[in-house]
Amino acid sequence: MPQRVFFAGKGCGRRLVTPESENVSWTDIMEPSGDSGIKIERKNNQKGTTMELICPVCHKPLRIEEKRLVCQNHHSFDRAKSGYVNLLLSNGKHSKLPGDNKLMVNARRDFLQKGYYQPLAEALCNEAARCCQEAGWKTPDILDAGCGEGYYTNAVYQALSSLTKPRMVGIDISKFALNAAAKKNHEAEFLVGSVFHLPVADSACDLLFNLFAPYCGEEFLRVLKKDGIMVMVIPSRKHLWELKELVYDSPYENEVRDYKLSGFQLLRVRRLAEQITLTSREDIQNLFMMTPYYYKTSEENSRRLQGCGRLTTRIEFEILVYQKDGKETTT
Ligand SMILES: C[S@@+](CC[C@H](N)C(=O)[O-])C[C@H]1O[C@@H](n2cnc3c(N)ncnc32)[C@H](O)[C@@H]1O
Ligand SMILES: [Zn+2]
Repeated sequence: MPQRVFFAGKGCGRRLVTPESENVSWTDIMEPSGDSGIKIERKNNQKGTTMELICPVCHKPLRIEEKRLVCQNHHSFDRAKSGYVNLLLSNGKHSKLPGDNKLMVNARRDFLQKGYYQPLAEALCNEAARCCQEAGWKTPDILDAGCGEGYYTNAVYQALSSLTKPRMVGIDISKFALNAAAKKNHEAEFLVGSVFHLPVADSACDLLFNLFAPYCGEEFLRVLKKDGIMVMVIPSRKHLWELKELVYDSPYENEVRDYKLSGFQLLRVRRLAEQITLTSREDIQNLFMMTPYYYKTSEENSRRLQGCGRLTTRIEFEILVYQKDGKETTT
């Protein structure tokens, strides 16, 4: 059997191990390339070498400056202190502060930085490395659409930095999320914007991630280059099953949607399954807050978690890799 490899170690990309040695279970429809003695080192790429961005007002190209983004029609967008830029126009918002609020962002940041979902980050890093190697991308233009607080954006950026010169953009509608993301990674460009109106030029992007975030096929196809790749992650049927058992009398399995997406060709699917043990009430509460159940669960049921200081639960993800279909599409 070919050896399956993925990165392990804090920050992603430190060493290569077999999944078996880390008690991770994989199901691959197609095996990873099995390559590579990839070494990871941090490069100080400067902002300003990013994929082509467009002005949300007039759609002309944006010039990236140290303190702002500006178009030829003098529409100017200042960089926040942490480094992100707000390109969301007020008429593009459905509320005053759209997207995840500060509480949700902090919960996700605190949970993810403990490393519980590191196997997923590693799998995404390997997927990105594989795409770059197979396509021969030297300066891949990568977009994380709905990037949240940038945990995976940063992991992929770091992992690719010794292989290539990644030009990374993270877009999210929540400025709280991007504030956290920009503090974590000073080289990637983080923009407040919506996946439904991306401030990105047509055919600007080699690789697009859409991880647990809203999907807009039409926009994603527009910004992807010919043969561009999209990587999505969705939860599998029994993701967080034991957490649900604790909260609900009769938990239900997640529905896994049809993999088919108009305008895309499915290249491969990988399933990642593991057990994690959360060792504090805070971690359990943070994980619960990251899920859609948090807002749907009655107070009485939510209280069942409060006395719980330790929880072993399975995590199960499906990593779907698509290629933009060469054919003309109607989305
Ligand atoms: C479950 S979080 C996932 C974040 C990140 N991809 C991750 O996996 O850690 C979903 C994210 O989608 C963002 N979001 C919601 N609606 C959006 C939109 N229309 N455009 C861009 N981002 C959006 C939220 O603010 C939130 O950060
Ligand atoms: Zn403009």
